Amino acid sequence: IPVDPFDFVIFGATGDLAERKLLPALYQRQRDGQFSEPSRIIGASRSAMSDDEFRAHARRALEQFVGEKERDEAEIARFLERISYVPVDATGSNGWQELAARLGEPDRIRAFYLAVGPSLFGHIAQHIKDYGLANEKTRIVVEKPIGRDLASARALNDTIGSVFSESQIFRIDHYLGKETVQNLMALRFANALYEPLWNSAHIDHVQITVAESVGLEQRAGYYDKAGALRDMVQNHLMQLLCLVAMEPPSSIDADSMRDEKLKVLRSLVPLDGVDVSRHTVRGQYRAGASSGGAVSGYLEELGDPGSTTETFVAIKAEIANWRWAGVPFYLRTGKRLASRVSEIVVQFKPVPHSIFEPAAGIVHANQLVIRLQPDEGVKQWIMIKDPGPGGMRLRHVPLDMSFAQSFNVRHPDAYERLVMDVVRGNQTLFMRRDEVEAAWRWIDPILEAWADRPDDVHGYTAGTWGPSASIGLIERDARTWHESI
Ligand code: BG6
Repeated sequence: IPVDPFDFVIFGATGDLAERKLLPALYQRQRDGQFSEPSRIIGASRSAMSDDEFRAHARRALEQFVGEKERDEAEIARFLERISYVPVDATGSNGWQELAARLGEPDRIRAFYLAVGPSLFGHIAQHIKDYGLANEKTRIVVEKPIGRDLASARALNDTIGSVFSESQIFRIDHYLGKETVQNLMALRFANALYEPLWNSAHIDHVQITVAESVGLEQRAGYYDKAGALRDMVQNHLMQLLCLVAMEPPSSIDADSMRDEKLKVLRSLVPLDGVDVSRHTVRGQYRAGASSGGAVSGYLEELGDPGSTTETFVAIKAEIANWRWAGVPFYLRTGKRLASRVSEIVVQFKPVPHSIFEPAAGIVHANQLVIRLQPDEGVKQWIMIKDPGPGGMRLRHVPLDMSFAQSFNVRHPDAYERLVMDVVRGNQTLFMRRDEVEAAWRWIDPILEAWADRPDDVHGYTAGTWGPSASIGLIERDARTWHESI
């Protein structure tokens, strides 16, 4: 359904996020017929650039980051027509009047996307207000990192919150926009099958893996200060954990969903000093091989032999509530791992008693594997009898639903969904202030315990599944990581 006409302002318009994600996402949504006219996209950043120069930049972004099949000259021309550019000084006064003049009628939807570092959030928010750019239908979008601990996250939330109300603030976690992550909602709450089993009586444990094969890329400045715990766990992995663990919300509206996620975050068992060393493993990659070629170690890539920043984390998390007591959630994420794969594995308990002879083979416990990327799909592993005349032989096989094979449609990028949710004012897939802060409240003691033992970082060879200590973390509980292949 087309949305009302809007003005979409991108601060940091010449940066990486705009180029790779935002401009391509907006283009795709125009192509899908979701825009009403006249909708405008206004780039803003420090660089001096004319409208035409920015349009040329946007064209290059589309050529690079939109699939060839979806690039159509007439569509691109229509997209570029709605684009303009204003050089704006985020901290000073230059450009703000010009930006105000570019915006349409005062009652239009106005989305301001802050694709800039968090140190500029406060300045930009204040200027939007002071120059009279905000109206009733203003939404402001902020990207992570939202703070580097609870105190700084609160300060940042206070700064933005002093200018905008919570209903106007859209904190992005792009994992929530991924198709398969949303599919998790459908799987849990649009099927009667799983919910009765979705608890400690039937589930043994849950694994959440977000493995990447890339290394530091071009983000040394940011990443070395953040590390995997802040970069991935505090947001993406904890959000996934919430979606698996939350109670059924009474509706899919933003606050019902977020209330339930918040309860999960608040039920996480806090890890203090001793528990941190037993429940967490940090790693940093050394030189190795990835995607068929030799790659350097983290320290060489960084050019700083002294860094103890973690590029891998494994955590055993526990949730203290009726549904999940005694069911560990094993989380792991890292850079330069054996392959790029994100998945959630729900391991059910074994049958209480096997009626089969040992010769029939092992009775494996059921397993639900939700593959978020790549090769999105859902596999429900069950036991069957091996077909054929050979007597009773058991086999563990997947009921396999590969999205690519089952649906011949393009997989929209997470940002496509999210940018239009911003325009529509739908906050369901965005993080509320209290959620972000509750997540930090659980992360902070881990960071503190780690800071006391900076050298407790295990090396791992690039192209493997991380340090052996992470295997120890789960094997201590007589369980194993699901082989992600
Ligand atoms: C980002 C992190 O939020 O997510 C990156 O900052 C990471 O370090 C990226 O590479 C992974 O996202 P995706 O969508 O490629 O899984």
